[in-house]
Amino acid sequence: MNTKYLRVLTLVIFFICCWSLTGVFGDSVSVTEGDSVTLNTDLAEIHEDEDILWKCGAKYFTIAEISRDSGIFFTHDGPDGRFRHRLKLDHQTGSLTIMNTTTEHAGVYELEITGVKVTSKTFNVSVYARLPVPVIISNSSHCSSSSCSVVCSVLNVSDVTLSWYAGMSVLSRINASDLSISLSLPLEVEYQDKNTYSCVLNNPISNQTTHLDINTLCRHTCAGAPVSLIVLISAGSLMIVAVVVIFCICRK
Ligand SMILES: *[C@@H]1O[C@H](CO)[C@@H](O)[C@H](O)[C@H]1NC(C)=O
Ligand SMILES: *[C@@H]1O[C@H](CO)[C@@H](O)[C@H](O)[C@H]1NC(C)=O
Ligand SMILES: *[C@@H]1O[C@H](CO)[C@@H](O)[C@H](O)[C@H]1NC(C)=O
Ligand SMILES: *[C@@H]1O[C@H](CO)[C@@H](O)[C@H](O)[C@H]1NC(C)=O
Ligand SMILES: *[C@@H]1O[C@H](CO)[C@@H](O)[C@H](O)[C@H]1NC(C)=O
Repeated sequence: MNTKYLRVLTLVIFFICCWSLTGVFGDSVSVTEGDSVTLNTDLAEIHEDEDILWKCGAKYFTIAEISRDSGIFFTHDGPDGRFRHRLKLDHQTGSLTIMNTTTEHAGVYELEITGVKVTSKTFNVSVYARLPVPVIISNSSHCSSSSCSVVCSVLNVSDVTLSWYAGMSVLSRINASDLSISLSLPLEVEYQDKNTYSCVLNNPISNQTTHLDINTLCRHTCAGAPVSLIVLISAGSLMIVAVVVIFCICRK
């Protein structure tokens, strides 16, 4: 009987913990580095008797405060100055905007509204790096007469996926974890292929796409060599002919 009681109690405690955890790390907000992000109070208007505090990080540094009846609307630079010239407070709603974000601004923010009672809300802000545009080059050391070998690559990325698409379907894909690394993904295409190929770099909130142009990329570096040789030779012979003609005209 005691163990049964204990089990129920553990379950209850477990649910209370989970519930308060979701409360603690409430809203997830994502932003791309350099962009602005607004943390909303969801208030239409701050009441006269309400005070608002915005806090940040595990140590809950106060970065903004509003006390409407005392006319206080302050923002702070933060302990290491990381919010200097970056915070904007909406005087009507109390919402806080962080401008020109950097990865330093990722983390937990807490909103505390003190009125008749105290309510709080938390935000988990994730800042993602701006994605580079993937670069496609042909791998000339790996060419044949019927197919062309290309490589799509990106430098210094983390938390991303690099994929080759044919139309809307994924052909291949690789991931980078949180380490900043360079990725490259090969693809073999037939010259006659009529598919639209694209190389897509994704993070959880954005993507960058480069389309493969088989005609320019493959003809030039793979099958292109003999073609340009022929062009060179014909240009060369044309010039010789021209020189001879001019020489003849001059002698006359
Ligand atoms: C915040 O969100 C990120 C990405 O979704 C997650 O990895 C991280 O664990 C979250 N942090 C907290 C404290 O909830
Ligand atoms: C954004 O922040 C970076 C440094 O983190 C700075 O170099 C840049 O000038 C800022 N841009 C704007 C528009 O404030
Ligand atoms: C090009 O192809 C060769 C032969 O298959 C391979 O060893 C090399 O790693 C490829 N180069 C790139 C940049 O992928
Ligand atoms: C990639 O990172 C390395 C080392 O951190 C750096 O030297 C290099 O300039 C970076 N390249 C680009 C394109 O950002
Ligand atoms: C890339 O992002 C756009 C919106 O910005 C979206 O419509 C599109 O489906 C995304 N593409 C991929 C392959 O994720």
